[in-house]
Amino acid sequence: MDATDVIRAKRDGGTLTPEQIDWAVDAYTRGVIAEEQMSALAMAILLNGMSRAEVARWTEAMIRSGERMEWSALDRPTTDKHSTGGVGDKITLPLAPLVAACGAAVPQLSGRGLGHTGGTLDKLESIPGWRASLSNAEMLDVLRDAGAVVCAAGGGLAPADRKLYALRDVTGTVESIPLIASSIMSKKIAEGTGALVLDVKVGSGAFMKTADRARELAETMVAIGADHGLRTVALLTAMDRPLGNAVGNAVEVAESVEVLAGGGPSDVVELTLTLAREMLAAAGVSGRDPADALKDGSAMDAWRRMITAQGGDPDAPLPAARETHVVTAPSSGVLTRLDAYGVGVAAWRLGAGRARKEDPVSFGAGVICHAKPGEPVEAGRPLLTLHADDEARFGRALEALDGAFDIEAGGTAPALPLVIDR
Ligand code: URA
Repeated sequence: MDATDVIRAKRDGGTLTPEQIDWAVDAYTRGVIAEEQMSALAMAILLNGMSRAEVARWTEAMIRSGERMEWSALDRPTTDKHSTGGVGDKITLPLAPLVAACGAAVPQLSGRGLGHTGGTLDKLESIPGWRASLSNAEMLDVLRDAGAVVCAAGGGLAPADRKLYALRDVTGTVESIPLIASSIMSKKIAEGTGALVLDVKVGSGAFMKTADRARELAETMVAIGADHGLRTVALLTAMDRPLGNAVGNAVEVAESVEVLAGGGPSDVVELTLTLAREMLAAAGVSGRDPADALKDGSAMDAWRRMITAQGGDPDAPLPAARETHVVTAPSSGVLTRLDAYGVGVAAWRLGAGRARKEDPVSFGAGVICHAKPGEPVEAGRPLLTLHADDEARFGRALEALDGAFDIEAGGTAPALPLVIDR
């Protein structure tokens, strides 16, 4: 087979045959298809799309490029959640131990942040001693001990996706629904979870800016799950404003611990409980309301076991940034808009995120929001506190916040509902 034939077929709006797809994914993984050829094919897929059968086959080929994990040694069903990424999206942190406390096992492979959306592993690595890299045997031990494990995917899992995602990131081909759906689902299916809940974010801070695009992505992923016998549910949830009050790494861990202690911002609590109920239902586990596990401390116990089992100290003080800068409200009224994208870019520029894959992140950097859309604010009172290790970072972060919020006398906030659709 020849790479240029496959590229031309997709460029001209054709449908790739199963043989062409299997060959292209395998040949690219082995280095037989060059980076520039795969980059042309990815662009042709972005521009011309893929049929359901093509996406299913592409996903299958990506799964087959590496190992498939399985958890039959556990005495309880497995269930997992994947979020398409957002600003202040720390939900995995309270959710995984909460679901474990309610009787299911959560084997979650997570990622690092790139761009304005944060990554779960970067947040957890702000806990002193915590390790993201575990062998499969270590994952099983943590699952047996704590009921939940959150760690990095090993190099053997969907290596085709690892290579292709890095290429898409630098060739403007990330925003393709077939490529995003096959990328996410190949990893989740190879991870071996028995049930999956997808949190597909909608709004300025998300990949998908509109509910229609998010719905198309959700339906594509649910169809892939169904084709592989994986019980998959998708929720569309709001990402027009930040989730919770904290955006960054250590500041998001602190907010997650508040939720596990029975407090925390109401949107984080509501989404955590909604996703926990969906994950338990998808796994066929009933009998325990997750709200009770937050109240009686059992979710916090599971969190402490999970962090300790991965080398972390749940009692250690979290890193704090050296410098702070307070943004005050320029007028009194109602905060009618706080743009997720603007806050996410500000946190990224403060050092919470990375510009290149190999950059380190600052654990203490980030933004604390003192008001949510719909709440009253008073002129001269703090609206946002910026945290950074170096005060030189404040200038560019403030530029990102320019025009990112509106305050109106007597206004109301026309926000998206937290859960838009299921
Ligand atoms: N997350 C992934 O894992 N893959 C994508 O393509 C986009 C987001």
